[in-house]
Amino acid sequence: MEKKLKTEKIMLGTCYYPEHWPEKMWKDDLKRMLDCGIEVVRVAEFAWSRFEPTEGKFTFDFFDRFLKAAEETGMKVIFCTPTATPPAWLTEKYPEVLNRTIDGVMYRHGGRRHYNYNSPVYRKFTGIIVEKIAQHYAPHPNIIGWQIDNEINCELNEFYSESDDIAFREFLKEKYGTLEALNEAWGTAFWNQEYTDWNQVHIPQTVAFGSMNPHRIMDYIRFVSASARSFVKLQSDILRKYIKKGDFITTNGIFGNLDSHRMTEESLDFIMYDSYPNFAYCVGEDMKSGDSLKDRNWSRNLSEVRSISPVFGIMEQQSGANGWVSRMEAPQPRPGQITLWTMQSIAHGADFISYFRWRTCTMGTEIYWHGILDYSGRDNRRLAEIREISGKIGKLQEITGAEYKAFFGVIKDYDNVWDSQLDKVHERVERVSSDGIFKASQLTHTPMDYIYIDDDTRLEDLLKYPVLFYPHAVIMTGKRAALLRAYVEQGGTLILGCRTGYKDTTGKCVMLEMPGLLRELSGTDVVDFTFVSPDEAPVYIDWNGNRLEAAVFNDILEPIGDARVLGTYANSYCSGKAGLIVNTVGKGKVYYFGGTFTEDVARAFLRETGIISPYGHVLDIPEGCELAVREKGDTEYLFVLNYCKETQKIELKQQLFDLNEQKPVSGQVVLGPYETRVYRRRKD
Ligand code: GAL
Repeated sequence: MEKKLKTEKIMLGTCYYPEHWPEKMWKDDLKRMLDCGIEVVRVAEFAWSRFEPTEGKFTFDFFDRFLKAAEETGMKVIFCTPTATPPAWLTEKYPEVLNRTIDGVMYRHGGRRHYNYNSPVYRKFTGIIVEKIAQHYAPHPNIIGWQIDNEINCELNEFYSESDDIAFREFLKEKYGTLEALNEAWGTAFWNQEYTDWNQVHIPQTVAFGSMNPHRIMDYIRFVSASARSFVKLQSDILRKYIKKGDFITTNGIFGNLDSHRMTEESLDFIMYDSYPNFAYCVGEDMKSGDSLKDRNWSRNLSEVRSISPVFGIMEQQSGANGWVSRMEAPQPRPGQITLWTMQSIAHGADFISYFRWRTCTMGTEIYWHGILDYSGRDNRRLAEIREISGKIGKLQEITGAEYKAFFGVIKDYDNVWDSQLDKVHERVERVSSDGIFKASQLTHTPMDYIYIDDDTRLEDLLKYPVLFYPHAVIMTGKRAALLRAYVEQGGTLILGCRTGYKDTTGKCVMLEMPGLLRELSGTDVVDFTFVSPDEAPVYIDWNGNRLEAAVFNDILEPIGDARVLGTYANSYCSGKAGLIVNTVGKGKVYYFGGTFTEDVARAFLRETGIISPYGHVLDIPEGCELAVREKGDTEYLFVLNYCKETQKIELKQQLFDLNEQKPVSGQVVLGPYETRVYRRRKD
């Protein structure tokens, strides 16, 4: 089943914490929200003690009263399970529910997300609280959906409690059956790591020089992902028994060491994301502003979300400055930026936008993480902006349900994502290529998607894209290689980069000639390879009179069979050797590029494959603006988003219908700072 948000209209919401405010404020707050177009509140994700103040004593009156206020004002509610913050009575009496550092130090009460997924005690208490809450509140008419926990794997995504140690061993027994198979998979002959008894097998522990068996880490990450998924499934199985027909189950955010695709497949109706583009402007050590795309980089995260749910929701959309008392401090969004970031989410496929949070908290770690209102709660410019956004969204309603339209795809898979986390060599090439391809897509206005594949991916899912990059498929399986072959044979263009195909799923290197399982398909033999040496950098490949940098790493190539050499190394010790090969297979072709995909290289491939700037005949847009397209039937909606604090000029070469102005327009249009325009057109 397709895991997407289904709503009749694009809606606004906000995150509300009834437990933070005097009860007499609730109704007034809800009315003020409705008055500026906010129709949904999310509640209760950290409120366990309001339901179970002491062990086994359940009280429902607090949220009963809140839901009554919601009913009386006409506010819709997303209700949460409160498992992200176990109460003090629980952690004090049952410390085994707490997570630990790798050195065994317990994370004590007082922060959040300090529990572990595998503690049988925590799972028992989770089951009880979720059941009680679902049983009691699920019939409520104002509830429209459920959020499980809060930001699974945020903050901490490594788990070292005793329960994790036990569960990891079980996970491995299930996966490998015998110790011999485990020893083989982990290559324990190296450094005398062979296990002779299951009791010797542990979750990662501190080792000399911090460099542990990488195959063990790979399985540990898979284990963390499986543990998180099973914790979410435990909750969704309970919720499913009670929720009203039509209500949804979701959770928010995508975080490390978690296969969010499988989690959504198994347990959710769709995924929501928490979008905080203002991280790009942090003033402290978290500053990301070295990157020229700044807040526009969140379009990449939104594209990741879309690869899970083509239409999704934003559970937390930035509406004020960020900052904990301890980190992440940043300025307020400038006038217009909340609108820009809202439109960015909608442009990428969000049909629900819920702002974090209604009121800025006056206590605790997050007193600087501003919501819409400031401490006093009086009307302010951010509230005025939300009201305006609601008016603008009113004119975009026909877009509801439309899906993002991409002109090429970037293939990813969790084996390679995780391998690139633990393997420096892989990480270096991956980082350059994922930045370069995204940037080329953004700046040439060639919309792209991410496609996550596994051994069950269907060919139809790939054939939607005429061109696919698989930048560094270090780990390759026979099934995935066969899928790629079928894609190419049926007319697809596949673009591979250096370091392809030299590992299997254990993370061990294969003893095949490289690029291993893709050697035949790519018509390429990697005869030698090297990091770019600092004293030879930059290294270039000449292609069609262009000099393209082969940054970071160089595979030195020779063609096999009918494959043709398109580019040769221009300098370094590889000078004169092949650096780019193309192979025709069936109706399609495969390019093998010996380096990474910097922005320039990615642009060259977008040009070569003829997919660059697909709306060039419709409109001219400067690089400071993003083009995003959603489509429905034969109608396209073109979003032009101005990320600059200066005005930007665009040129409409055809007559288009401006949804905001509700009239046809053409010629030059000036976009104000942070302004978005949305145009409707009929597909070519
Ligand atoms: C999110 C989280 C919220 C709040 C916000 C600001 O990650 O879900 O609860 O903490 O960040 O820090």
